[in-house]
Amino acid sequence: MRIRRSGLATGVLLAVFYLTLLPFVAHGVGMIGEGLWQGAARRSYLFADGENVGNAAMLVHILAGTFLVVLVPLQLLKGLRLKYNRFHRMMGACLVVLALITGLAGMSYISLRGTIGGPLMSAAFFLYGLCLFTAALMVARSAMEGDRAGHWAWGLRLFWLALGSWLYRVHYTLWYLLTGGLGSEPDFSGPFDLAQNFAFFLPYLLAVQVWIARNRSAHQNALITGS
Ligand code: HEM
Repeated sequence: MRIRRSGLATGVLLAVFYLTLLPFVAHGVGMIGEGLWQGAARRSYLFADGENVGNAAMLVHILAGTFLVVLVPLQLLKGLRLKYNRFHRMMGACLVVLALITGLAGMSYISLRGTIGGPLMSAAFFLYGLCLFTAALMVARSAMEGDRAGHWAWGLRLFWLALGSWLYRVHYTLWYLLTGGLGSEPDFSGPFDLAQNFAFFLPYLLAVQVWIARNRSAHQNALITGS
């Protein structure tokens, strides 16, 4: 009965998550469409005429990032992981590659073009990219070494980092609904914007760290590697 109830709760959470994800994914697909169009620079500030490397970096970034955020929740489903271990490993490899590509393409874009919010936003997003990149590498490394506690901890960090881009938009949506956009400016220079540069990933990483410290002992034995 308890298992059935927790399964139901997970199902409801996933359904709500995917519903809120729909506009985000639609936006990503729309931006890819815009980017592939000849006059992309006239349609979005993310693209510039004749700057093919930066434009390609942004297209690859959005494509990989969208797949990452859509797929990453499935990796945490315990039922799937225990019953279909081979699927978990294949999906894990895909997620690591997607996270590496998303982070690398995003950091390349920042190095080439900066961001709409200026140096502070560029630095914060670059740091976010570095965190995502590092977490992806460490998840893969701990899996290969059979380090269960490490794999669990880095997997949790990667999960929250992979959701960061979505959380950023969730924060803005809720804030605009609640306050009409208090402290937020079109050029991202308002106090709310400045805080958001870091608030979509650092507090979550901190909370995850506390969770890891409290629950680490339950994840000490060796990683299951059989399929
Ligand atoms: C994790 C999944 C991610 C997804 C789904 C994603 C998706 C997107 C999308 C759709 C845009 C276009 C936004 C717009 O239309 O204004 C964008 C922009 C951008 N992303 Fe990501 N992203 C992700 C992660 C990251 C990471 C890790 C970095 C850091 C390296 C990053 C850096 C950027 C930058 C710098 C921009 C342009 C910001 C601007 O100047 O407006 N993103 N991303």
